[in-house]
Amino acid sequence: MTTTSIEINESVRHYYGQVLQSSNDLKTSACCSIDAMPGYLKALLAGLHPEVLERFYGCGSPLPPVLTGKTVLDLGCGSGRDCYLLSKLVGPTGRVIGVDMTPEQLEVAVRHRDWHAERFGYANVEFLHGHIENLAAIGIDDNSIDVVVSNCVINLSPEKPRVLAEIFRVLKPGGELYFSDVFADRRIPTALRQDPVLLGECLGGALYWEDFRRILQALDCPDVRVVKQNSISLGDPDVAAKIGMVKFQSVTVRAFKLPLEDRCEDYGQVACYLGSIPEHPHAFDLDDHHYFETGRPLRVCGNTADMLAASRYAEHFQVLGDQSRHFGLFDCTPGPQGESAASGGSCC
Ligand SMILES: C[S@@+](CC[C@H](N)C(=O)[O-])C[C@H]1O[C@@H](n2cnc3c(N)ncnc32)[C@H](O)[C@@H]1O
Repeated sequence: MTTTSIEINESVRHYYGQVLQSSNDLKTSACCSIDAMPGYLKALLAGLHPEVLERFYGCGSPLPPVLTGKTVLDLGCGSGRDCYLLSKLVGPTGRVIGVDMTPEQLEVAVRHRDWHAERFGYANVEFLHGHIENLAAIGIDDNSIDVVVSNCVINLSPEKPRVLAEIFRVLKPGGELYFSDVFADRRIPTALRQDPVLLGECLGGALYWEDFRRILQALDCPDVRVVKQNSISLGDPDVAAKIGMVKFQSVTVRAFKLPLEDRCEDYGQVACYLGSIPEHPHAFDLDDHHYFETGRPLRVCGNTADMLAASRYAEHFQVLGDQSRHFGLFDCTPGPQGESAASGGSCC
């Protein structure tokens, strides 16, 4: 790590370890923007320890379905809210690993591990102290993780390409990256990127979509999907005075470790959702423009077909056709939301 990277890590660690004591101390809504949480997750929240909930600083609900028995890695797990929700979602046969670099945050998470294990009837969560830029250093093997989640953390890393490279190293083939984070409509000026408050509030290091897309493309992941996005308002006048020219969004993103193409190609394939995910009996949203109603076939490009047929979602879809016959580019005109910056990277 460079000196600047170490200083940025130190500044973030200080912010989350010393400056903030609960989500009430945040100056903007960026780190805890109200993202409509699905009802079945809200019900699980009620069973978590209050102190874990008080120190939640996430910006979304990056908890995808179909997790039973899976190994899930939460990058920047903080006080562990999402890890304990995931503990319920993966069940006793699954495993949850939370990683964080701030001892004060991890201490809260670890202190309540037995409390949750007793309530749930099983213990399947472990917490590791480490940097998300170097998961090898804390023993996370290649191709060992089914799903990587993260909630408002990657923006805080001074070395985002390293974090994303580590994610794709540890994911199993067909595994999924599903995360919520703060995105900006432009590159943030260097001076503001190092401002401790802007950085800590998840604004200074916010990802610029096109740069994020380029990093993933360089990692052989050329098709990233936006699941949902919400605008972030800068409530604090001092913060707005510094960085009010930038528009921020909380975006939930999904990407798969699969050999996808850089454009959506048409092979005449069709996908039909079977309605078999218990929390989603009527429909499944792959992303902000793929809404699969139960039993209703939808024409899909080759990449979408692969995401559904070569991932853990396969048993919930019937995908018809293969890629032996090509019909040209897939017509994937984005919907109204697709005109925003954060949709430009999804090729479909
Ligand atoms: C905005 S908080 C989110 C915490 C948690 N995901 C949640 O939703 O409450 C950011 C967390 O990421 C951790 N973090 C930031 N940069 C990190 C890095 N490079 N490596 C490990 N953890 C990091 C911080 O210590 C902090 O706990």
